[in-house]
Amino acid sequence: MSDVPDVHGQADLQHQVVLGQSHGVQSGLGLWQEQQVFIKTLLSGDPDTVARFAHEGQVAACLDHPLVASLLSQTPTDLIFPFIQGGTLRDLARCGPMLPADATAVVWGILEAVAHLHSRGVVHHDLKPENVMLLRGKAQASQVRLIDFGMSYAAHLPLDIHSGTRMGTPHFMAPEQFQGVRGDPRSDLYSVGVLLFDCLAGHPPYEDALGWLVGISENRAELPGPALLHPVMLAAIQRDREARPQSAQEMQDLLRAARAALNLPELPLQVAPS
Ligand SMILES: Nc1ncnc2c1ncn2[C@@H]1O[C@H](COP(=O)(O)OP(=O)(O)OP(=O)(O)O)[C@@H](O)[C@H]1O
Ligand SMILES: [Mg+2]
Repeated sequence: MSDVPDVHGQADLQHQVVLGQSHGVQSGLGLWQEQQVFIKTLLSGDPDTVARFAHEGQVAACLDHPLVASLLSQTPTDLIFPFIQGGTLRDLARCGPMLPADATAVVWGILEAVAHLHSRGVVHHDLKPENVMLLRGKAQASQVRLIDFGMSYAAHLPLDIHSGTRMGTPHFMAPEQFQGVRGDPRSDLYSVGVLLFDCLAGHPPYEDALGWLVGISENRAELPGPALLHPVMLAAIQRDREARPQSAQEMQDLLRAARAALNLPELPLQVAPS
């Protein structure tokens, strides 16, 4: 390791293992300042890809919460995050529908992370099980680590990531997001509602997600899990965003009440609201 701190952190970075590549960005494992890190590396010189990569780093850099993957360092070609050992919520969900206690605990943690994003003027816009990591694979609120700000909207940044081909994932995307409305926190709450449904059912609510998004199909699968949780899911997955919870805290209030009615223990916040 260098004795002279490098402001960009680049001199300390060792790439070790390539994990994958998509849209001109490679992901991999490495070492940075003696810790294992997850690195996103820009491979493409395409101006759109370069701008999106810088945007993703700028969004991550403005966030600071224990349940959000923190950006350790950023260079023009590398975004360096702590390596989160344990896998994604998708990995866990592959084992089958989750117990209500576990699903609601994970969603509680996601809502706390999302509340932090929204307080910083950021809307994630790509909340899905692949973008939620669980430290040590545990289905607990405190183990949630929200990742992937590649689709995020930030009120203080100039780039509108929507103008392009990558839009998010139909199953988890709010109808207004599909129509092109950006930057509304309630779109994230819709996605969290789908996440809760998906964790409890083992599949998302609409088989024909595109049909639902364009308004030609209303065929929703049966609400999963205990009836006491149905109002939470139903409220969040409303087509009309005015009918949804209006903030992550409001959705947490619904979840808290449902957990209490189910005799599940109250969950603490990781960070006390200021
Ligand atoms: N900090 C991390 N530690 C460990 N694994 C991570 C970390 N961040 C991301 N991953 C893993 O890499 C995957 C892809 O990361 P991410 O979601 O940030 O990129 P992406 O833009 O969605 O890329 P892709 O198109 O390949 O999914 C995640 O689903 C997760 O499995
Ligand atoms: Mg992702």
